[in-house]
Formats: sequence, structure tokens, C-alpha cells
Amino acid sequence: MKVLIVGGGGREHAIAVALKKSPKVTELFAAPGNGGISEIAACFPNIKATDISGMVNLAKELKADYVFVAPDDPLTLGMVDALEAAGIKAFGPCAGAALIEGSKVFSKGFMKRHNIPTAAYETFTAPEKALEYIKNNRSYPLVIKCDGLALGKGVIIAQNYEESEEAVTSILSGEKFGDSGKEIVIEEYLNGAEVTVLAFTDGISIAVMPASVDHKRAFDEDKGLNTGGMGVIAPAPYYTEDLTKTCMDTIFLPTIRGLAKEGRAFKGCLYFGLMLTQAGVKVIEYNCRFGDPETQAVLPLLKTDLFEIMTAVIEERLSCIDIEWNAEKSACIVMASGGYPEKYQTGFEIKGLENIRDAEVYHAGTKKDEQGNFVTAGGRVLGVTALGETLEEALDNAYREVEKISFERAFYRQDIGKKALTIALQQHI
Ligand code: AMP
Ligand code: GLY
Repeated sequence: MKVLIVGGGGREHAIAVALKKSPKVTELFAAPGNGGISEIAACFPNIKATDISGMVNLAKELKADYVFVAPDDPLTLGMVDALEAAGIKAFGPCAGAALIEGSKVFSKGFMKRHNIPTAAYETFTAPEKALEYIKNNRSYPLVIKCDGLALGKGVIIAQNYEESEEAVTSILSGEKFGDSGKEIVIEEYLNGAEVTVLAFTDGISIAVMPASVDHKRAFDEDKGLNTGGMGVIAPAPYYTEDLTKTCMDTIFLPTIRGLAKEGRAFKGCLYFGLMLTQAGVKVIEYNCRFGDPETQAVLPLLKTDLFEIMTAVIEERLSCIDIEWNAEKSACIVMASGGYPEKYQTGFEIKGLENIRDAEVYHAGTKKDEQGNFVTAGGRVLGVTALGETLEEALDNAYREVEKISFERAFYRQDIGKKALTIALQQHI
């Protein structure tokens, strides 16, 4: 079978590595792909992940049997709908279901309609109304979110009135995020430990993957700006069996049933961003896709053939297959370009990759230069994943391998997993 993967980051590299293992996958393609993906799949760097008609044409030319649409923007733009209309089977939700990520106003309303626990909130389109609301607000921090996709930057945690005023006016004026900020959500700040749960769903049943912990801030001790994610451990050490059951009953099943009921049956990978608060577990956000970098820590634990799961999801027979996971623990450390998530330079040679023994190195922002060397080509450059009997061992293994790799101005967080392991220890888990 021929499979085309849409996207070109570390997540897509991890998906490519998992699909490549399948005896049923005879040819693998990726558009745009990246330097690392090009080692195992034919890449089409000139076709953007958001180019709907370009991707449909490419899938037709390649005679792809399946297209795996990984990033959020093509999904919300309706790439799966367009592929299906052209008779091509695709993994990922249709645009109607992808709205769960594409619009925070929709997702908050959806949770309210289906009694799914989330932060208390209000929505606004008029700046005067929003300013009046924050003037009356007495407790900080306050969370201000723009409605649409904003490259992971559309959430502002305001510490005082001035910061919230600045966020409200810059978003609603369109200055900061354009049309994505036409409407905003202002919500209660949730305190607690965060966890990501990715789940396969065919719209009828749901199969959750091991929970993981992402590290969104750029620097150690959660300092610096929000990024796409600087490292992940899986399974999340404080996500207990009891919590799994609670989440299934109060969040996961109500979500897929609610979406189906509203005519938006979700097929693909659904991402639950959860906060474990004193008042119970609450949804921070939904994403309509695999997380990045969560995928780089979670998929290496998958024992079942990803191609089999993908086809079961597409054909709505997910409940008929058993999905098995490795009992080991996993850690992924992201190596980034100095300056990320703000301005950074690219084109630096990546050295030491040939010395890696006990890790999988997923390429996020790399390309091959004319001499065939890997060079940096993005903010997040590599995700280095290692396994171990314990999370501590997985982390030691991953850091040992990271130290073998270098490129100019490279940086990575030194404290991935540290806070999560401390929380687990305090809770005697
Ligand atoms: P989102 O784009 O919704 O994932 O938000 C990005 C990050 O902002 C989340 O991963 C959280 O760390 C943080 N965040 C979002 N909403 C809240 C909230 N209501 N309370 C506390 N932190 C939040
Ligand atoms: N790592 C966060 C995300 O994929 O949205």
C-alpha cells in the first residue's frame, strides 16, 4: 500500500517511522516532509501542507492508497473532505469535526452543551464589552484566548489588569492574530498538573494512548515564552488508573458521543489537553490531531501496526482491533535553534548524528544541503527519544544521546520530566 503523509515536522517523522515498520506499507511519501523524513519516504518539499488542491493532485499522481493528514491547519481547512470527495481514503477528521480545535468559541460551547468539565468562561467580539468584563474582574491570572488557530501563540495568561487590557485590545483589533482574533474567550485560570491524552477514534469508539507530559515553555523551570513543546515524557507519572476511568466517563466518551450527535463525528486522533485541578480534571483544550512533540514520545511505545490502526479508524472498525503498548517509559528531548520561539538563524550543520545508538532521532526542522549533510531549517530542530525501564532511565538515556549531537546555537531544556516526577513523588504514585 502507498501512503502519503501530510506535514513536515517531528510528529510527521515519528508517524513515518511507525508506518514504515508495517509490512503492508510498500511505499511512503511525505509532503512537504523534511531532511529526516526524506531518508525513509520520498518527499515533495514544494507542496505546502495547507495546499489542498495541490495535495489532492499529488495523491492522485502518486496513486496513494491512503493519505495521513497530520497538522491542524489542513484539517481545519477541509483537506480530508477534499481527499474523500476525490475518492482518496484519508486519516484525520473532516473540517466539521476539526472545528473542535479550529474554534475555541465552538469548543467551549460544545463542552458546555455536553457537561464536559472545563474552565468557566465568557466570549466577546466587542472590545468595550470585554474591557468592561476585565474591569470588574478581581482575580488574576486571567486567561485570554483568541478563537482561531494562532500557531500555538493565541493564549495569553494575563497577570494583571494592564496585561489583560493589552491582550484584549491587540487581539480584537486584528493587530495580533488577524481574523483568528475576531472573537475571544476569557476564562478562569486553572491551577494544577497538565497532561496530554491522545486517542484514536473512529467516531464510535475510542482507544486512548499512554498519557504524556509536554513542556511548553522555552527554558528550564517553565521560564521563557510558550513554544510548540520542548520535551515530553510518557506515560505521565501522575495519571493514575482512577483518573483514566474518570476521564473516560466524564470527558472522552461524552466528547466523541457529543461530536457524533452534533453531526461532526470525529475520525482520527483526538488530543485532550487536561488540567488536574483540586476541583477535578478539566479540559484546557482539544486538538484535532496528534500532538507535537507528544507523538515523538508516545508512538515509540506502540506495539501494534499503526497502518492497521489507521485503516480501522477510516473504516470505522476500531473496536475490532486490540491496540498494544510497550510497558517501557519514554522521554523525548527537543533540540532547538538559539532564539526560538522568536527570531533564530538556520542553515547550521548538525553534527554527531552518526554516533546515536540508543535513541530515535526525529527531525523537526532539518534539510539536507547539497553535500548531503543535515542542516538546521527550523526553530525546533530535532526530537531525541529514548526508552527505559523507568522514566528516570528513559530521561538519562535520552540526555546521553542528546549530548552527542551539536549544531551552532543549539539549546534544549535540561529539566524535562523533573517537575512531573516530583509531583508523582509528592502524591506517592
Ligand atoms: P492552548 O493553546 O489552549 O493549549 O493553551 C496553551 C497553554 O496555555 C496550555 O497548554 C496551558 O499550559 C495554558 N493554558 C491554557 N488555558 C489555561 C487555563 N484556563 N488555565 C491555565 N493555563 C492555561
Ligand atoms: N504539544 C502541543 C500541541 O501539539 O499542540
